Amino acid sequence: MGLALLIVYLKTKFLRTNDERYNTSAKFWARIFGINFAVGVVTGTPKEFQFGTNWAEFSKSAGGVIGQTLAMEGVFSFFLESSFLGLFLFGEKKLGRIGHWWAAFLVWLGSWLSGYLIVATDTWMQHPPGYTLGPHGEIQLSSFWQLLVNSWSVWQYAHTMLGAVQTGCFVMAAIGAFYLLTNRHEVYGRIFVKGGVLVGMVAALLQLFPTGDTQGKLISQHQPITLAAMEGVFHTQTGAPLAILGQPDVQKRKLDNPAEFPKMLSFLTYRNWSADIRGLDAFPEEDWPDMIPLLYYCYHVMVGLGTIFIAVMVLSALLCSALLCSALLCSGAASCMPSARCSGFLCFAFRFPTSPTPPAG
Ligand code: HEM
Repeated sequence: MGLALLIVYLKTKFLRTNDERYNTSAKFWARIFGINFAVGVVTGTPKEFQFGTNWAEFSKSAGGVIGQTLAMEGVFSFFLESSFLGLFLFGEKKLGRIGHWWAAFLVWLGSWLSGYLIVATDTWMQHPPGYTLGPHGEIQLSSFWQLLVNSWSVWQYAHTMLGAVQTGCFVMAAIGAFYLLTNRHEVYGRIFVKGGVLVGMVAALLQLFPTGDTQGKLISQHQPITLAAMEGVFHTQTGAPLAILGQPDVQKRKLDNPAEFPKMLSFLTYRNWSADIRGLDAFPEEDWPDMIPLLYYCYHVMVGLGTIFIAVMVLSALLCSALLCSALLCSGAASCMPSARCSGFLCFAFRFPTSPTPPAG
């Protein structure tokens, strides 16, 4: 899904500059997108059956609700994406420049619509609006629109899609860097590094704020027990610290070896350094999540990786900036040519040599 956006970016650059190298790059990544798409279809289809095999009782009672979004995902977005992917991969000559751009755009639209409908299914489970209970306890959909535009969906969707964009950007920039470091297809290496780093930096920053931040606030409003578990807060505290490291000991109800920022959790959650954060002790034990350490570690790994991604992308973008490079790493634009091998090779990544070479495959 991240690659779909990057393919539209490359096709748009091609339309605007008429530089065939962007078009070749877009087609190169479309083939990799096609492989991912095929793997997604093969692995995704059994997942639909898992609703029945693994969560039969849930599917029986909530099927009337989640069946709507899951069916729409198959009927609308999957077919939109697959039809136009075929046209994009095989129909360039017939479609022409503008038509081919539209094919790329509709592949992107189909894949991102697909993402929305899957996330909307998941957000309904996190925060369910628009339903009533039937006479036998079955869940009935009372408002289709509330299911579709659930307030939680917007932020979770933005956050999840930014994760996909970052993944695509890291892969694209890494392949570009590999080409540059091995002196192969350098012109394409530069396009990949530049596109991956620029789009990836924006995505990495938005992942933290506002999307990750708002997700945290939604959790604190609607699922305070989850917040306490994922932050490792066992006891209610005024001015709660933010633990960036530590191991939750559920038996002893404490965090071992914590590395904490004082009062930061209260501030991040309520924008108030002295706000109360309810700990797990404020809730009956039977309502606690089943696997508190798993939840705690997954959440901390996610935020830790998100922070590292921001640092890597911002540093790469700085190294990419010709200004910084000419000021610190080499003697100026004239000396920064394809043959140069300064430590700021990402700066070198931004310059186009005169003779392009096509990428492999
Ligand atoms: C930059 C720091 C980040 C912060 C502060 C943050 C914050 C959050 C929060 C609060 C949640 C909701 C947790 C829950 O529902 O229990 C969440 C979920 C999620 N995050 Fe992050 N996140 C960050 C980085 C990332 C990164 C780097 C990725 C992927 C590349 C990512 C992907 C996801 C996904 C896929 C979900 C699951 C959505 C769901 O099913 O609820 N996050 N994040």
